Amino acid sequence: MSKVAEVFETLEYGPAPESAQFANEWLDKHGRAFGHFIGGNWTDPAVGVSFETANPATAEPIAKICQGTVEHVEAAVAAARVAQPGWWDLGSHARARYLYAIARKIQKHARLLAVLESMDNGKPIRESRDLDIPLVARHFYHHAGWAQLMEDELPDYEPLGVVGQIIPWNFPLLMLSWKIAPALATGNTLVLKPAEFTSLTALLFAELCQEVGLPDGVVNIVTGDGETGAALVDHPDIDKIAFTGSTDVGRVIREATAGSGKRISLELGGKSPFVIFEDADLDSVVEGVVDAIWFNQGQVCCAGSRILVQEGVAEALERKLRARMETLRMGDPLDKTVDMGAIVAPVQLERIESLVEQGRSEGAEVWQPSWSAPREGWFYPPTLCTNVAPSGTLAQIEVFGPVVVMMTFRTPSEAVALANDSRYGLAASIWSENINLALDVAPKIKAGTVWVNCTNLFDAASGFGGYRESGYGREGGEEGLLDYVRLTWEHGAPLAQEPTANAHQEQAPSDGTPAIDRTAKLYIGGKQSRPDGNYSLPVYAADGSSMGDVGRGNRKDVRNAVEAARKAQAGWAARSAHNRAQILYYFAENLEARRDELTDRLAALSGDAEGASTEFDATIDRIFTYAAWADKWEGRVHNTPFRNVTLAMKEPIGVMGAVCPQAHPLLGFVSCVAPLIAVGNAVVAVPSGVGPLLATDLYQILDTSDVPGGVVNIVTGLRSEIVPTLASHDDVDGIWHFGGAEDARRTESASTGNMKRTWVSYGRARDWFDHEQGQGQEFLREATQVKNIWVPYGE
Ligand code: NAI
Repeated sequence: MSKVAEVFETLEYGPAPESAQFANEWLDKHGRAFGHFIGGNWTDPAVGVSFETANPATAEPIAKICQGTVEHVEAAVAAARVAQPGWWDLGSHARARYLYAIARKIQKHARLLAVLESMDNGKPIRESRDLDIPLVARHFYHHAGWAQLMEDELPDYEPLGVVGQIIPWNFPLLMLSWKIAPALATGNTLVLKPAEFTSLTALLFAELCQEVGLPDGVVNIVTGDGETGAALVDHPDIDKIAFTGSTDVGRVIREATAGSGKRISLELGGKSPFVIFEDADLDSVVEGVVDAIWFNQGQVCCAGSRILVQEGVAEALERKLRARMETLRMGDPLDKTVDMGAIVAPVQLERIESLVEQGRSEGAEVWQPSWSAPREGWFYPPTLCTNVAPSGTLAQIEVFGPVVVMMTFRTPSEAVALANDSRYGLAASIWSENINLALDVAPKIKAGTVWVNCTNLFDAASGFGGYRESGYGREGGEEGLLDYVRLTWEHGAPLAQEPTANAHQEQAPSDGTPAIDRTAKLYIGGKQSRPDGNYSLPVYAADGSSMGDVGRGNRKDVRNAVEAARKAQAGWAARSAHNRAQILYYFAENLEARRDELTDRLAALSGDAEGASTEFDATIDRIFTYAAWADKWEGRVHNTPFRNVTLAMKEPIGVMGAVCPQAHPLLGFVSCVAPLIAVGNAVVAVPSGVGPLLATDLYQILDTSDVPGGVVNIVTGLRSEIVPTLASHDDVDGIWHFGGAEDARRTESASTGNMKRTWVSYGRARDWFDHEQGQGQEFLREATQVKNIWVPYGE
């Protein structure tokens, strides 16, 4: 056969290597050894400990990188601290110009950055060139815009200060841009630690910052491994840690920062479902799977690593997938015809191999194409696993490699149940030609991003981040931006000692208290219930006289309340916002009818009749506020630069714990519970320990206002006995705790088990009567999470 005819027959094509010349020249110019970038200067790479960074495709070392020490971190944080006020004072427009200049620089050096990224990470040049680097530039452009708009659009906000940022190795420069662009746009300065396997593009980025004349100390890059990262996390002068990486390290960071007042955002692992209904276009699905799990060798936090396919098309899909896998090209990442490159490091390769072996030993059938992966370097072939139980290792553990499991389902509800059968909740894809079905399923899947008939699309305008153990906080979009600022009033707010519960109460004996007589019970699942332990606590008036008793809830009561809340939550969230608003108005109306009784209670408690009346008025006003917001806290449609609409939907977090402030027992209670339920959460509330009767007085009002049983549950008792159970409960999705600094530490620390979202006050005084401090969008943001649903259009 002639050569040409042969080529037509096989459709084989030859290599098309991208030149590494410029990247090598850049490395040589630096003697293939790099220091840290601190305060606008480079440290001497010859000093101290260094390690090699290697090319995963050849296993050859490329350059030496310095291991950052505690002293380097100290110096970098100090430089960032010094630079921060000046950077903020430059103002919106000047910061916008810097960000714009960085975006331009990235575009000008796009090819060099792409080649360097592929050499250091092992990803195909097609991906670094066509996806990573253009998205990096897009991120800086988008945030140049936010910098420009900040003064006008976010006038009540200010930067957090100095931010520590720790990124992984799978999208080195892209993750850097997701971290650095919003931080700079909002006037923060930062210290970023790249992953130890992939520091080079961050170092080249630092040079670009020098070239645009970014003020010294605004961006600092300290290289090193997890120890360097830990030094950054532990540094006392850091205001926020932004982390992307494994859930295990995310947990360590949550624990290490608990109670420190450092904000954290965590973008962690995933085990994202890829759901295929039988009416889907299977050829598109196959290409979707390629993008979902073989893109970047599957080393993608949101990789579609669980194919869930409707039974009727499972066989056909498997056949098509195998055929497609045979044609995937694996090899030199700098070859422009290559689909799959190398795995970042031997340790990751071993992890993939051992998880697949474990799956095999559990009965999984493991299929790989007939061609063999290159022997030089660290490669792993695309792998399809079937016969995996939903609870099996390969269905539950994040492999972070080119390994996908395939399972079947029969009905849409089974698909949703399987999709949600994971501790993670980062992303999902849904494939169906029936848009009604896809849009019905999308809100039911617990994930921060849902792609309909597409996968792995990202954009700076659309926030990205997880539910559950995939972390919290968003990157991109307005919600990502707001993770880098705080309301200006918080800055100067005094750290006040919250009034603690009545001293007599805190000293209540753990046994021997008389059995309950006429005591306000707990409120669980819409019913008044006796506390499990059958103990009560006295409540005293301002003059020391007895006001009555409340039940002393224990762990069992908290668990019952959480169970009741879980049962009620989905139904409550499914109601229309209008209906929730009506119920809140009705609650206010019924409360108003009991004005005299409640103001008397408040007055007896505080000894201040006038104050009681003011608190009551403010309470009614507050309920009206959230009734008003209930049908106005809406999502958006993002202008992402593809042929699709991206629906940013605000969803309730789920079951929420609310540890209410001790002060202002009625207003404080309502200020916590009303925003949470207005947007569809169910709540387990721990009312003020000083005035718990103001919450227990609400039982009948909740009943008569049509608040469904289980939406609001109230557990009175000693905080030291109730809150730890609530904060550590695995079926609680988030917790608010308005209390002291030590309370904050305990609650944040206890939340690490299921990585629930926390919002704590660290003892910072909040004026509950003030509209800016006591209500509004901050509360609603803390009560919701944004899900982005990408829906393509056009044929
Ligand atoms: P990792 O979570 O250990 O590393 C991510 C970053 O955190 C790196 O910069 C690392 O130096 C730093 N780090 C490590 N320990 C730290 C500590 N104690 N304090 C502060 N920073 C620390 O991830 P690793 O070991 O590279 O990969 C292990 C697994 O994690 C992967 O197999 C994958 O399952 C998952 N992973 C998930 C990522 C995601 O984007 N969701 C990214 C990277 C890894």
